[in-house]
Amino acid sequence: MADILVIVAHPQIEHSSVSARLMRRAGRVGAGVEVRDIYALYPDYWIDTAAERAALGAARLVVWLHPVHWYGMPPLMKLWLDEVFGFGWAYGPGGQALRGKALWLALSTGGSQDSYRPGGHNRHFFDAFLPPYEQTAALAGMRWLPPLVLHGAHRVSDAELQAHEDVFADRLSSYPDWPELAELADHSACIVPTDERPAG
Ligand SMILES: Cc1cc2nc3c(=O)[nH]c(=O)nc-3n(C[C@H](O)[C@H](O)[C@H](O)COP(=O)(O)O)c2cc1C
Repeated sequence: MADILVIVAHPQIEHSSVSARLMRRAGRVGAGVEVRDIYALYPDYWIDTAAERAALGAARLVVWLHPVHWYGMPPLMKLWLDEVFGFGWAYGPGGQALRGKALWLALSTGGSQDSYRPGGHNRHFFDAFLPPYEQTAALAGMRWLPPLVLHGAHRVSDAELQAHEDVFADRLSSYPDWPELAELADHSACIVPTDERPAG
C-alpha cells in the first residue's frame, strides 16, 4: 500500500504512446507509488472493489491517468468509479473514506490545445469538460489539484513527450511539495442527505 496511487485506464495500452509511457515512469518513481493498471487487472470487467478501496484507503494522492475518450473517461474507469466510489463509502452518510485525500488527473487528448476553444472543432475550452471530475472529487471530500493535460498527443515531438513525462514524474516524487498547493482551496464539504439514494 502506497502514499500515491496511480489508477491507469487505457483500453489498448499496447497502442498507447502517452499513457503507457507515463505508467512505466510512475512505476520507477519509488516505493511510495502504487500503479494499478485496471484494464490489465480486470480484463473481464469484474472489479475487486475491496482491493481497490484498500489501495485508495492507504493513499494520500490519487492519480487518474487516462486518455480522454469522448470528452471523458474510458468505460472501465467509469465502471471503477461507479463500483468503488459507493454511497456510504465515498460519499453520503458515513461516506468519509476519501475525505482529505487529493485527486490529480493526468490526461491526454488527440485534439490540439487550439481545437479546445470557441471556434475550434472541440468548441469549448478543455476546462469545460472537467466539472464532472471536479464535482466527483468534491462530493468525496477530496482536494482537487489542477490536472496535467497533454493535448495533440499524436503530434507532439519526442522531446515534448519526454518533457511531459519528466513533469509527471517530478510531480509524483515531489508531492506534496508543489508550489501552488499553498494557494489552492482545501477539500469542500458536500453533505448528501440520507434519502438521496434508495436503501439497500
Ligand atoms: C474511442 C476514442 C475516443 C476519443 N475521444 C477523444 C476526445 O473526445 N477528444 C480528444 O481530444 N481526443 C479523443 N481521442 C484521442 C485520444 O485522446 C488520444 O488518442 C490519446 O489521448 C492518446 O494517448 P495514448 O497514446 O495514451 O493512447 C479518442 C480516442 C479514442 C480511441
